[in-house]
Amino acid sequence: MAARAPGSTPSPGRPARPVRSAYQTLRDPPDTDPMRCCHADFALAEGSDRGFTVGMPTFTFGPGVLAEAGDHARDLGMKRVALFTDRRLVSGEYVARVHASLRAAGVGVTVYDAVRIEPDDGSFLDAARFAADGRFDGYVSVGGGSVIDTCKAANLYATHPADFMAYVNAPIGEGRRVPGPIRPHIACPTTSGTGSEVTGIAILALRAINAKTGIISRQLIPTIALVDPDVTRSLPAAAVASTGFDCMSHALESITARAWPRRLNPAKGTSRPVSQGANPFSDLLATRALELVGQFLVRAVADASDTEARSEMMYAAMLAGVAFNAAGCHLPHGLSYAVSGLTKNWQVPGYPDDRSLVPHGMAVVLNNPSVWRHTASAHPQRHRHCAHCLGADVAHVGPGDEGEALAARVIDLMRATGMPNGLAALGFDEAQVDDLATGAEPQYRVIKNAPVDIGRDELRQLFRAALRYW
Ligand SMILES: NC(=O)c1ccc[n+]([C@@H]2O[C@H](COP(=O)([O-])OP(=O)(O)OC[C@H]3O[C@@H](n4cnc5c(N)ncnc54)[C@H](O)[C@@H]3O)[C@@H](O)[C@H]2O)c1
Ligand SMILES: [Fe+2]
Repeated sequence: MAARAPGSTPSPGRPARPVRSAYQTLRDPPDTDPMRCCHADFALAEGSDRGFTVGMPTFTFGPGVLAEAGDHARDLGMKRVALFTDRRLVSGEYVARVHASLRAAGVGVTVYDAVRIEPDDGSFLDAARFAADGRFDGYVSVGGGSVIDTCKAANLYATHPADFMAYVNAPIGEGRRVPGPIRPHIACPTTSGTGSEVTGIAILALRAINAKTGIISRQLIPTIALVDPDVTRSLPAAAVASTGFDCMSHALESITARAWPRRLNPAKGTSRPVSQGANPFSDLLATRALELVGQFLVRAVADASDTEARSEMMYAAMLAGVAFNAAGCHLPHGLSYAVSGLTKNWQVPGYPDDRSLVPHGMAVVLNNPSVWRHTASAHPQRHRHCAHCLGADVAHVGPGDEGEALAARVIDLMRATGMPNGLAALGFDEAQVDDLATGAEPQYRVIKNAPVDIGRDELRQLFRAALRYW
C-alpha cells in the first residue's frame, strides 16, 4: 500500500479539502472512537520510511480444514514431506487426520516428533539435522508454537545451511539475511495464541545466555496456514489461558508499539524488516483480536465444551499473529524472555512435567500491567482504546488514568483465569530485580520497539512493579 504525505489535491466537481493518505482513510472513525486522534501517529516525517509491508500466508480458517492438508500439499508439488509434531500430539487425532489426508493425496510422509516444548538451540539443531538428512521437498507442522517454530528453523537450515548463530537475531546472533525462499510449509496450529502459523518468526531459548531470542525473516512465513478451531477441544485450561494471554499481548503490543514512520534505522524495499512498528493494518486486526479476547477468553478457559469461545480465541490468535508480525512486539515480550530463562522451579498442568517451564504466554502476561502503567503516557488514547476493546468501561477514565485502566482490565482477566499473582508467585523477589533487568537487556530488538525509551533503570522499575498485583 503506497503511503502519500498528506496534501490538498482538489477532487473534480467537489470543494477542495485536505486529502488523506490511503492508509489514513482506512480509519475514518466516528467521534466516539477512542483512537480518533491517532492519525497523527502515522504522519510521515523527514527521513522516515514511506511505506510499510505486511506479510502473511494464504490461510484457511474453519472447522475440519485439517483434512485439506493433502490437497494443498499436492497443489504445492510436494511429494515427500516431513511432518513435525510433538510427543503428546503424535498419537492423537489431529496428526492422524493430517497424515491420512497427505497419504490420500499420494504424498510420502516422515514424522518428526522430537520437538522440545519451548524449544532451544539444541532442539532446533536436532530438527535441522533431521531435515537435512531427509532431503524433503516440503514441510507440514501440526502443533503449537513450539512445533511450528521448530519446523520453520529446520526448513531454513536444511535449505540454506549456515552456522547456527548466523540467522539468529542481532545483537545476540549475526542477524544474517535469509538468502532466498525456503521449502513450502503447511502450518496447522493446535493452540490458540502464538499466531506462529502466520508469522515469519521462530523463537528459541539460547542455552549459552539462558534467555530467549529468535530468527526473523519473511521467508519463514508458512506458505499455507490451516487453522482448524476443532483442535482446541482437547487443549488443557492452563494452555488456553496462557496462549490466550500471548494472543492478547501480541495485539496490545502491536497497537502500542512505536509507530512505523518513527522507527529507528528505516530500511526500504526488500530490506524493510518484517516488523516495522504500529501501522493501520495491524491496528485493525489487533483491535478485533482484543475485542474477541475480552469477550471469550474467560469462557474458553472455563469450559472446554464452549465451542464458540474456543473457536473465537483461535481466530483472535491468527488475527493478532498477522498484526504483531507486521508491527512487532515490545516490552512485555522482551521482559518475558528473562522471566522464562531465570525461573527455577515452576510447572503448569498440561505442559511437560520433567523440568521447570513457564509457558510463554504466562511469562508475557505477568509483565503486562506493569508495562501499561509505564507506557501509557506515550500514547494515552491507544491505551484507553485497548482497555475499551478488552471490555473495560472507559467512560470515566480521565487524562492520566489510561494506563491504570488497561492494567486493571488485564488484572481482572488474569484473576478470572487463575494466572499467578505477579513474578513473586514464580519465586522472584526484590533481590532478583537486577538479574531480571540484565537478562532482558539483550532483547534490544523488541525493547527498541516500545513507545518510550527504556534503559537499565526503567527495566528494574518495570520488574519491581510486576512482582505483585493484588
Ligand atoms: N513464532 C511466533 O511467532 C511465536 C509467537 C509467540 C510464541 N512463540 C513461541 O511458541 C512457543 C509456545 O507455543 P504454544 O504456546 O503454542 O504451546 P506449545 O507448542 O509449547 O505447547 C504447549 C503444550 O500444549 C500441548 N498441546 C498443544 N496443542 C494441544 C491440543 N490441541 N490439545 C492438547 N494439548 C496440546 C503441547 O503438547 C504442549 O505440551 C514458545 O516457544 C514461544 O516462544 C512463537
Ligand atoms: Fe508471544
